[in-house]
Amino acid sequence: MEKHANFGSRMGAIFAAAGSAVGLGNVWRFPMEVGNNGGAAFILVYLLCIVLMGLPIMISEFVIGRHTQSNMIEAFRKLAPGKWWRFIGILGIFVAFIILSYYIVVSGWTLYYTYSSFSGMLMDNDTDYGAFFGNFVANPWLSVLFAAIFMLLTHIVIARGVQSGIEKCSKVMMPMLLLIIGLLVLCAFSMPGIDEGLRFLLKPDFSKLTVSAVLSAMGQAFYSLSLAMGCLCTYASYFGPKTRLMSSAVSVAAIDTFVAVLSGFIVFPAVFSVPGVEANAGPGLVFQTLPYVFNMAFDSVPWLGYLFSGMFYILLFLAALTSAISLHESVTAYVHENWHMPRKKAATLVSVATMSFGVVCCLSFGVLSGWTIFGMNIFDLFDSVSSKILLPIGGVLIALFVGWYLDRKLVYMEVTNNGTLSGRFFGVLLFLIRWVAPIAITSMFVKGLLDML
Ligand code: TRP
Repeated sequence: MEKHANFGSRMGAIFAAAGSAVGLGNVWRFPMEVGNNGGAAFILVYLLCIVLMGLPIMISEFVIGRHTQSNMIEAFRKLAPGKWWRFIGILGIFVAFIILSYYIVVSGWTLYYTYSSFSGMLMDNDTDYGAFFGNFVANPWLSVLFAAIFMLLTHIVIARGVQSGIEKCSKVMMPMLLLIIGLLVLCAFSMPGIDEGLRFLLKPDFSKLTVSAVLSAMGQAFYSLSLAMGCLCTYASYFGPKTRLMSSAVSVAAIDTFVAVLSGFIVFPAVFSVPGVEANAGPGLVFQTLPYVFNMAFDSVPWLGYLFSGMFYILLFLAALTSAISLHESVTAYVHENWHMPRKKAATLVSVATMSFGVVCCLSFGVLSGWTIFGMNIFDLFDSVSSKILLPIGGVLIALFVGWYLDRKLVYMEVTNNGTLSGRFFGVLLFLIRWVAPIAITSMFVKGLLDML
């Protein structure tokens, strides 16, 4: 049996896990949710959810992954032989596959928008951005082409392996992403809408905090940290014995939250700089409203508009790529290890399978838009079923598994690196894993179901 791969350094491990967490969820979904749910009060609840629910589950995944040094399915097989807990692993890998196949579609959009920004096509003054977006996604050739290019890039990284692919790529792309986001925040501070944008982000209005906003904050925390699908569990199987699970989880959650909040600092001052553009524009916020905003705000210096928007979509692209890599890796690791296939062959199989589903998702905006189930096209179906149903189920099960089924001593030994680190917070952690997280997620799940009915 081949030796299980490992990340080369502790920093590399943190960058990789942060790369998984920081994704479209931060730059595209977070501002949209903040806009829809009233700003600063939502952010406060979101932060609470990260600490009370996100962190405990992330540490649980780290414990499972590092202890077993295996992919998600094998990990449960080792820890609970012959028991139905194995179902969690199967679910995780299945959902990672489903998410990846629609994630590459939106990621393809980010590539196309980067190209369109730099070529000047996007900033053309008479462009109607709603129609620009609509025509692009409805064009079967273009949207499939860009999703395929994105898939190919992801494939190349995965095929190169854990250290020279995933780790190297995260170490280069994460600092680049942080640099771009810093530059964009500086730009945002020079926009006319900065005061109003900051007020929206920093001044909580608790009257807007409905039950559904609280539950959305929880769902967002979950999605943004890449929980419950074995991504972080798979990455943790590459952690070395010296990696500190608790402090790594805190770093990853901190980087993820930092990027999400900074994205808000970029998006909202821009949105408030243009009269008539609303903060609660929904999913179109980033792809339809922002190009318009960039165009108007830099009306007198068009090249600044090109630059600002090009950088923004590169940011979105980098964020999407490192997350797609982690989704791909959870599936590839399983195929590679359990089906005894060489890594490159396993990666090819997963890429081809994902792309086939991806094509259907792309086409569901155009040719196949008539194919609906429960009133949703295929893309929406994959998105809602995975994030509203399968993700919460996985999350609760992981918390229950680590909190109640696993031997307390085993968990303690993993968290403290065999007793070499202080176990001061262990009691609190276990309480969060046993009680707080399962109860919180269950309520989110029920809300998700009620929404769908
Ligand atoms: N966290 C990523 C984002 O913010 C998306 C993602 C990657 C994800 N892996 C995941 C979401 C696993 C849920 C589960 O875009």
